[in-house]
Amino acid sequence: MTKDEEKRIAGRAALRYVEDGMVVGVGTGSTVAHFIDALAERKHLIEGAVSSSEQSTRLLKERGIAVLDLNSAGDIPLYVDGADECDAHRCLIKGGGGALTREKIIAAVAKTFVCIIDAGKRVDVLGRFPLPVEVIPMARSYVAREIVKRGGQPVWRDGVVTDNGNWILDVHHLRITQPVELERDLNQIAGVVTVGLFAQRPADIVLIGSEEMR
Ligand code: A5P
Repeated sequence: MTKDEEKRIAGRAALRYVEDGMVVGVGTGSTVAHFIDALAERKHLIEGAVSSSEQSTRLLKERGIAVLDLNSAGDIPLYVDGADECDAHRCLIKGGGGALTREKIIAAVAKTFVCIIDAGKRVDVLGRFPLPVEVIPMARSYVAREIVKRGGQPVWRDGVVTDNGNWILDVHHLRITQPVELERDLNQIAGVVTVGLFAQRPADIVLIGSEEMR
């Protein structure tokens, strides 16, 4: 089974958590694109979607799914999103697609966060995938120096501007054995907008695409 088949199976499997009349939080990425395809089959039954990126907004609208503003959408009972890495405690690294800030906001609001991944995303210890950190542009060098002090090797995702007008540092060479503490610590650095560690608010449910799930 290819990685994309695993993503498609996980994306479709998330549909079982969608209930009539819901506002559904929608993440970003290639796995979520499969979820959006599946969600389109229920578009007349849900109230609409809250989107975590311009990319997902475009996909949702192309498939005729109403996109709502988070400030006026009310409760978000369900958030469905992918991840770059996932450990046994459902802590995640996210932000490979650069949408980490809006993803973290919707995850915080949502009652249930269903994470959809292919099998290659499961790890024992987070950190092989470089940890994305969204920063205010003028703070890039300062934040990078602070991260070096903590043992990480930050690499500027040169040329990438987030949907919020900020920049991203991808932090290599971290072995994240204490994700909650690291998330809290990095969040304290002035100029950091969002750390792509989802440990203080991990996923509630992880769906790993597999043959058995078909
Ligand atoms: C987007 O910013 C990310 O958090 C994605 O959720 C993550 O990169 C997973 O993407 P894929 O589903 O494309 O692997």
